Amino acid sequence: MPQIVFVLPDGERRTVDVPERLSIMLAAIDNDIPGIAAECGGACACATCHIYLDPADADRVPSASLMEREMLDGVAAERRPGSRLGCQIAITNALDGLTVHIPDRQY
Ligand code: FES
Repeated sequence: MPQIVFVLPDGERRTVDVPERLSIMLAAIDNDIPGIAAECGGACACATCHIYLDPADADRVPSASLMEREMLDGVAAERRPGSRLGCQIAITNALDGLTVHIPDRQY
């Protein structure tokens, strides 16, 4: 089962086991990772599941769709090159060890 490393805004790191095909957003919620609101439940319609990927990991995940890129325009925290929506990235074994940073706010 792939492991995902969540890094909270205060620097705390939490490593969790995630079943394949679960989204990063659901992995965070299922593991009580704070800071992911996910108001729309994963429909790519709220941008409150904003996360940051490490630059080194950016090429490991599929590119953001046009809809995701447009939603990223509305994130509350600073948008960075590694900004993604957690509901739009499905975990696979190839993403084992992925590091996901949680922004300091979603609103
Ligand atoms: S949960 Fe709403 S955009 Fe991801």
